[in-house]
Amino acid sequence: MKIALIGYGKMGRMIDEMSERAGVQVVARIDPNTPDAEYQEVNAHSLREAEVAICFTNPDSALKNIEAVLAAGKDLVMGTTGWTEHKDRVAEMVKDANLGMVYSSNFSIGVNLFFHIVAEAAKVMNHFDMYDVMGLEAHHRQKHDSPSGTAVTLGELLLEHLDRKSILATQRLDRQPEHGELHFASIRGGHVPGTHSVWFDSEFDQIELTHRARTRGGFASGALVAAQWIKGKKGFFTEREMMARLLG
Ligand SMILES: NC(=O)c1ccc[n+]([C@@H]2O[C@H](COP(=O)([O-])OP(=O)(O)OC[C@H]3O[C@@H](n4cnc5c(N)ncnc54)[C@H](OP(=O)(O)O)[C@@H]3O)[C@@H](O)[C@H]2O)c1
Repeated sequence: MKIALIGYGKMGRMIDEMSERAGVQVVARIDPNTPDAEYQEVNAHSLREAEVAICFTNPDSALKNIEAVLAAGKDLVMGTTGWTEHKDRVAEMVKDANLGMVYSSNFSIGVNLFFHIVAEAAKVMNHFDMYDVMGLEAHHRQKHDSPSGTAVTLGELLLEHLDRKSILATQRLDRQPEHGELHFASIRGGHVPGTHSVWFDSEFDQIELTHRARTRGGFASGALVAAQWIKGKKGFFTEREMMARLLG
C-alpha cells in the first residue's frame, strides 16, 4: 500500500522508519519547513501517488489538511489532536466525499486493547461491589497537561460499565472520595512515556491492570494498521470503532 505522510516531525519520521516492516511504501513526505520532505503543500499533486494519507501535524493546520486530503480524493488517518470541536462537520465532509477517515488521540494498539480489557473487567466487577476501583497515570516531566486523555477515556469507560460509579475525579483529593466517585490520579516526573493503571481493590486483595508504553513506536505502528484498515472504507470512524471491528 502507498501512503503520504503529512507532517514530517517526530511521528511522521517514526512512521517512515516503521513503514517497510509493515509492508507500506511512503510515496510522499509533506511538511512546509522540513528540508527532508519532498513537498511543502498538501494538494492533489503531492498526494497523487498515495492511496491513504497519514496526518500528524499540529492543531492549527488540522482542518485545512483534512479538506485538502478529501479534495484530492484520498482516505485519511488523522493522528493530529486538538481539532475535535469540528468532528461533526468533518464527519459530514467525509460522507459527502464518499471517502474513509479514522481519527484517534491515541493510535497505540496496546492502549486500545487495554481499553477493551478494562471495559471487560469493569463489566465483571459490576457484580462484585466489595471491590472499589481507582486509577493512576504517570508521564514524563515535560508533559504540560494532566490528566492524560487516555486516563479520561479509561475513567469514562469505568463509569460506563460500573453502576456504582458515576463521577470521575481527576484532581488531587484532600478528602475522602464521595459515594459514587472514581478517583484517577496523575503523577509527573522522569522520562516515563506513559503508564496507566486501574486497581480493583477489596479488603483482602488487589487486582491491578497496567499498560506501560515504552516508545512512540506504538502510536506509529497503530497508525500504520489504521491506514491499511481504512483504505477503501466509507465514512468517519474512531479508533475505538476500528478496534471493535478488528476484534469482532
Ligand atoms: N494520535 C496519536 O496516537 C498521537 C500520538 C502522538 C502524537 N500525536 C499528535 O500528533 C501531532 C504531531 O505530533 P509530533 O510529535 O509528530 O509533532 P512534531 O514533531 O511537532 O511534528 C509535527 C510536524 O508537522 C509539521 N507541520 C505543521 N503544519 C503542517 C502542515 N500544514 N502540513 C504539513 N506539516 C505540517 C510541523 O512543522 P513545523 O514544526 O514547522 O510547524 C512539524 O514538522 C500532535 O498533534 C500530537 O498531539 C498523536
